[in-house]
Amino acid sequence: MNLNLTTKKIETDCEIVLIKNKKIKENKEILKSLNFKGEDESCVLLPELGKLYVGCEESDDDSIRIAVATAVQKLNSTNYKSAYIKVKSNLSAYVDGFELGNYTFTKYKSKKDELVEKNIYIEVEKIDKDTQKEFEESVAICNSVNMVRDFVNTTPEDFYPAIMAKNAVSIAKENNLECKILDEDYLEETNMGSMLAVGRASRHRSKLIHLTYKPSGKTKTKKKIVLIGKGLTYDSGGLSLKPSDFMVSMKSDKSGGCAVLGIMNTIASLNLPIEVHGIIGAVENMIGGDAYKPDDVLTARNGKTIEVKNTDAEGRLVLADCLCYAQDEIEDIDYMIDYATLTGACVVGVGQYTSGVMGNNKALTCKIVKSALDSGELATTLPFNRHLRKTLKSEIADMSNIASTRYGGAITAGMFLDNFVKDENKDKWAHIDIAGPAFVDSAWGYNPAGASGAGVRLTIEFMKNL
Ligand code: BES
Ligand code: ZN
Ligand code: ZN
Repeated sequence: MNLNLTTKKIETDCEIVLIKNKKIKENKEILKSLNFKGEDESCVLLPELGKLYVGCEESDDDSIRIAVATAVQKLNSTNYKSAYIKVKSNLSAYVDGFELGNYTFTKYKSKKDELVEKNIYIEVEKIDKDTQKEFEESVAICNSVNMVRDFVNTTPEDFYPAIMAKNAVSIAKENNLECKILDEDYLEETNMGSMLAVGRASRHRSKLIHLTYKPSGKTKTKKKIVLIGKGLTYDSGGLSLKPSDFMVSMKSDKSGGCAVLGIMNTIASLNLPIEVHGIIGAVENMIGGDAYKPDDVLTARNGKTIEVKNTDAEGRLVLADCLCYAQDEIEDIDYMIDYATLTGACVVGVGQYTSGVMGNNKALTCKIVKSALDSGELATTLPFNRHLRKTLKSEIADMSNIASTRYGGAITAGMFLDNFVKDENKDKWAHIDIAGPAFVDSAWGYNPAGASGAGVRLTIEFMKNL
């Protein structure tokens, strides 16, 4: 699908018309006879008239994205070669609808549907610098979101830590980023015993990935942001093995790390005055004679000891060391945000479509939630409290890797991570649990079944507004 901007009407196979707020203004009789009411995710194609009517229940960005995605899917069921749509405002929402709604994952299908390549013409009032910029940025962001979806949907057999590192290297090359790939020798030398333990039973060696974007030329660096991603390329649960039904889809446990790759893939094209570090702990959590065990006590890079009570609470062990690494290696951090499919509890608490945002700084977590909502992602804050914090106590180590209560599991996981945030960075850090929206079994809105690319759009929005 090719998107083109134009300032005049183009003759195409079909014109897409959004029916907003259920107000049908043309061809009323025909649409009524077809029982079209303009509801979300509904559409009617009138081939003789060359019109595709799509329901758009409200006029906000998300309604537009859903409506346009509905149109795209209808178009893809035809052999049309071109379509036209007139846009008065909210251009980026239309672009999102086209680009994100057009995504399919066919890597493992032996017969791929032969889609006719479509030219889409978007008519806008004028194509000035701002319009062009809004258009190009939206396309770039969507391309990164779709790249993340591809990564996450790829099987653990085809996407393991070394492959994640390989993808990081090519993203770095394409975008002129610095790139460091650190291996298990490095983890050992620097006492990252917490991260190291998780990957021990895997035949795939763990990798610590560090990408850096520094503004070039005239752009002066005004802020320094660190993004940290949980990159569990597979989470079997380890010796605290997951039940079969819960293990399915755990290829998605690398979503946080993949989101960081997606953000790093977009940042250079946005020309923002921000230095951005992307750090990913790429690890596979498996079973075997060499596996780390419940009862083990691990020592993280900052010297703190952790009693392992459940090897399925592995993401926080990987992130703990990645947080330490980031704060040792990078000075004067302004913001440090981590992304992780960290807990099932977060999904139970807020539903599968919403991320949970946590941290010590309420203004920051609220700002992140706002960025999410503005960008088309769903998020909400989850508050820490002193009582839940106490449930992480261990009798024999500095802390346990799981809480003594099963209530508030998303929050206790967040508070576990807080132990690895240095005092001077307490207010600069936020943790985003994307366990719900990162991977959903069935399609929702303009998102397909499987990976959604959660975290990318919300972060770009956050960075644009700094
Ligand atoms: N990767 C899982 C969390 C998860 C669950 C992500 C469902 C996506 C969908 C994480 O490593 C995990 O297993 N967490 C445990 C923690 C528990 C042992 C305290 C969980 O949520 O059950
Ligand atoms: Zn787990
Ligand atoms: Zn996990």
